[in-house]
Amino acid sequence: MQILQDKKIVLGISGGIAAYKTPDLVRRLKEQGADVRVVMTEGAKAFITPLTLQAVSGNPVSDSLLDTQAELAMGHIELAKWADIIVIAPATADIIARIACGMANDLLSTLCLATTAPVAIAPAMNQQMWHAQATQENIAKLTSRTYHIWGPGAGEQACGDIGLGRMLEVSELVTLCNDFFAEKYLENQHWVITAGPTREAIDPVRYISNHSSGKMGYAIAHAAVSAGAKVTLISGPVAITPPIGCHVIQVNSAEEMHQQALKYAPDGTTFVACAAVADYRVANVSAQKIKKNNDAMQLDLVRNHDIVADVASLANKPFMVGFAAETQDVEQYARGKLVRKNLDLIAANDVAKSGQGFNSDNNALTLYSTIDKTDIPLANKQLVANHLVLLINQHYTAKNSIKKQ
Ligand code: PMT
Repeated sequence: MQILQDKKIVLGISGGIAAYKTPDLVRRLKEQGADVRVVMTEGAKAFITPLTLQAVSGNPVSDSLLDTQAELAMGHIELAKWADIIVIAPATADIIARIACGMANDLLSTLCLATTAPVAIAPAMNQQMWHAQATQENIAKLTSRTYHIWGPGAGEQACGDIGLGRMLEVSELVTLCNDFFAEKYLENQHWVITAGPTREAIDPVRYISNHSSGKMGYAIAHAAVSAGAKVTLISGPVAITPPIGCHVIQVNSAEEMHQQALKYAPDGTTFVACAAVADYRVANVSAQKIKKNNDAMQLDLVRNHDIVADVASLANKPFMVGFAAETQDVEQYARGKLVRKNLDLIAANDVAKSGQGFNSDNNALTLYSTIDKTDIPLANKQLVANHLVLLINQHYTAKNSIKKQ
């Protein structure tokens, strides 16, 4: 079942240019099973029509506190009680200020006072307005009242300024809604995850690396954060955005990843080695760009530390999960690594199959322990990661309950 299935979401729209994105937001929330009711401020109607939002939400749009017909259909108190969450997107400096002051001078601000449901605010305004002391004080007030502040994002703004103040992207807001309702079954756990490739320098302009995009490791980090874990993500160089809520440590080489892994792993409950770490590095990195003086060239390579094996040899090691990226004899090699590296679990990744593995959006895994195996069928990497995190936690819980007996 989808996390948002049957969730009742009141979407409050205030008068910012980002209001034009809200029909897409409504559509995506509904696709995931949510029931969405839209409340608009007067300002919002200057940017987008109630008719559009009524059509996409399939529900009447509320925009007035004093509309007798609307109050008869679903009064503001009823709407406030109906909501599982109120999401205000975009939230202008004006609506943020009015809510912070406890005003009830339109339907949306009144709802915020009248509800016991959680309220999430997705700020959207000019960067100077966002940084203004008054706005920051209002945000601090709302945070202290346990309002959720989603964003803002940074980038180019409608007015041409560049900076913080953009409403988060629709996909990010949908993700945050999912995270909000996701079961927090990893609360009190700390997951340390390696992701992405490493780069081993040859000279100042060249390096040895591989095709890892970081997508699989980042999806695992996202699944763990959504389930309530504290997550430390040790990432090689990638071109994707880390999930919100992770502590991200950026590294380049296997040596740097090794150092950071040994630093953070002892505090972890679970260590997941998803990174495609270079097994070798160049013995003598040239200080200058190497010139093409010969037809052939040789590089002396030396073995890198095996990060996951070194973490697994710590006295206070966390629950250990490795990956095995293989192109042949996948089960045999994966089982070999499980034992040799002293791991609790290993996720075997057949990277010879097209449409999965390195740099693909999809993946399929088989998770091995010394006594059993579970297939995670081909799907989007986020779905695979959600499934994997659930399975890892089942094994972790089983191991801990045996320890306690
Ligand atoms: O990043 P994506 O594009 O999404 O691709 C995902 C992935 C294919 C990289 C991922 O699913 C995956 O399979 N990661 C493991 C890649 C790998 O290097 O596997 P390996 O079989 O060479 O290594 C075995 C295990 O030892 C891995 O957990 C690896 O992180 C770890 N290792 C390897 C070498 C080393 N020096 N230190 C390590 O910790």
